[in-house]
Amino acid sequence: MAEKKETAMDKIVSFCKRRGLIFPTSEIYGGLANSYSYGPYGAELKNNIKKLWWKKFVQKRPDIVGMDGPILLNSKLWEASGHLAGFNDALVDCKKCKKRFRADHVVKELTGEDMEGELEKMTKTLQAGLKCPECGGSDWTEVKNMSQMFKTEMNGVDGAVYLRPETAGAIFSDYKNVVDSMRVKVPFGIAQIGKAFRNEIVARNFIFRIREFEQMEIEYFIEPDADWEPLFDKWLDEQEDFAISIGAKKEDLRRYEHPKAKLSHYSKKTIDTEYNFPFGFGELFGLAHRGDFDLTQHAKFSGQSLDYFDPVANKRYVPHVLEPTVGLDRLVLTAICAGYFEEKLEDGERVVLRFPSAVAPIKVAVFPLMKNKPELVIKAKEIFGSLSEEFMCEFDDNGNVGKRYRRQDEIGTPYCVTIDFETLNDQAVTIRDRDTMTQERIKVAELKNYLTEKLK
Ligand code: GAP
Repeated sequence: MAEKKETAMDKIVSFCKRRGLIFPTSEIYGGLANSYSYGPYGAELKNNIKKLWWKKFVQKRPDIVGMDGPILLNSKLWEASGHLAGFNDALVDCKKCKKRFRADHVVKELTGEDMEGELEKMTKTLQAGLKCPECGGSDWTEVKNMSQMFKTEMNGVDGAVYLRPETAGAIFSDYKNVVDSMRVKVPFGIAQIGKAFRNEIVARNFIFRIREFEQMEIEYFIEPDADWEPLFDKWLDEQEDFAISIGAKKEDLRRYEHPKAKLSHYSKKTIDTEYNFPFGFGELFGLAHRGDFDLTQHAKFSGQSLDYFDPVANKRYVPHVLEPTVGLDRLVLTAICAGYFEEKLEDGERVVLRFPSAVAPIKVAVFPLMKNKPELVIKAKEIFGSLSEEFMCEFDDNGNVGKRYRRQDEIGTPYCVTIDFETLNDQAVTIRDRDTMTQERIKVAELKNYLTEKLK
C-alpha cells in the first residue's frame, strides 16, 4: 500500500524543476524575484486544470457564460473599484538585516494575532521588542502601506495604466455588453480565466504567492431579495468538489469564514476554502457576497446605467453578486502536493504523481522495447501517431523499460504502452497501469477504445 510521506516544500520545488514542471524564470540571467515558468509538463497540467474548470463552470452550466477581457483596462475602472485608493499591503523593514516583510504576516507569525489593516497597532507591537525572524534584531521601521498595483503607460493614453490586479474588473465593465448581447437572465454568471498582477511585498512558498498569476473568477448575478444563503453554500460545495476532482483529499480542505468585523461594508459573507500545503493551510478559493457594490460603483463612475430589467419579476434593479474565485497556480500546486508520493517497492523506490487522469500532463507513453530494432520503432511510431490524435502522448525509446516506467510515474502518466517482438506477430501490446503497476496485453485494434474507457 502506498504510504504518503511528509514532503517539504523545497523537495517539491526541486522535483518540479528536475521533471520539467516548473522552473525559476530567466534563470540564465540570475532569475527574477521568485518568478516561475511552467515547463512542458507544467503547461499541460495547468491547461488541463483550466479546461476542467471551464467545462464544469461554463460548458455544463446553462446559466454561466465565459468571456476574455484584456489585462490593460481603463484606469477609471480601478478608481471605481477602490483598487487605486485602497489595494495596499502593509510593509515593514528590519533595520538590522534590511529584510522586508509583509507586516501583518510577520506580526501573526510572531504573536499569533491577526492585525491586518491596523498599521499603528502593528508598529507598536513590533517596536515593543518583537524579534526579526531572519536575524533576531528588534529595530523595525514604521509599518507603511504599499500599493499592490503594477503601473505602466500606453501610447495615446494620458496618465498611468495598470496591469489588472484581478480578472473581476473586466467582467464588471463588460457586464452591460454581455447582458445586451447574450439574453442572459438573472440569476446568471460571467466567468473569466486570465492573468492578474500584484506587486506583492514578499513572493513566497513557490507558486503559492507570486506577482504574476492566473485567476479563474465568476461573477454570479442574483436578485437583491433572493434567498442567497443556499446558493452561497452550493458554491462552497462546488469549489470543494472541484478541488477534489484535481486530486485534493477532503480532509486536506477546510473553510475559513472572515469575521464580520473584518468584512468590507458591502459584503454579507466571505468564506475562503483553504488547502493543507506542506507549509500549512493557505487560501485556495475565495467566495464573497459583494452586494451591489461593484455595479453601483461602475454605474456611478461611468455615468452609465447598469440596472437590470427582470422580465419575470417585472421590475428593475441592480443585481447583487456572489463571487467565487480561485488562483490557477494554487490549484496547480495543490494537484502536485496532493499527487506526490514516495513509495518503497520490492526492487527499490519510486516517486509517483498520482494525478487523476484528466489532470495528468501525459495520458499515454509509447515505448518500442528496443530503440535499435527498426521494426519495433516503426510500429511504435505508428501507434503513437494514432493515439496522439486522441490523447496527449509521449514517445520514449531511451534506456530500459523499467527506467522509462519510473520516468512516466514521476510525471503522473496513467498508462504506458510497450511494443515488443510479440506485437509483430499477435498485433497486441503491453499496457502498464501507473497506480497498480500491473500489465495486460491488449490488441492494437482495441487500444484506443480501451484507453478512452480507462481515461474517462
Ligand atoms: N476578485 C476577488 C479576488 O481577486 P482574492 O482573494 O484577492 O480575490 C482570488 O484573489 C484568488 O486568487 C485567491 O483565492 C488565490 O487563490 C489567488 N491569488 C491571490 N493572490 C495571489 C498571488 N499573489 N499568487 C497566486 N495566487 C494568488
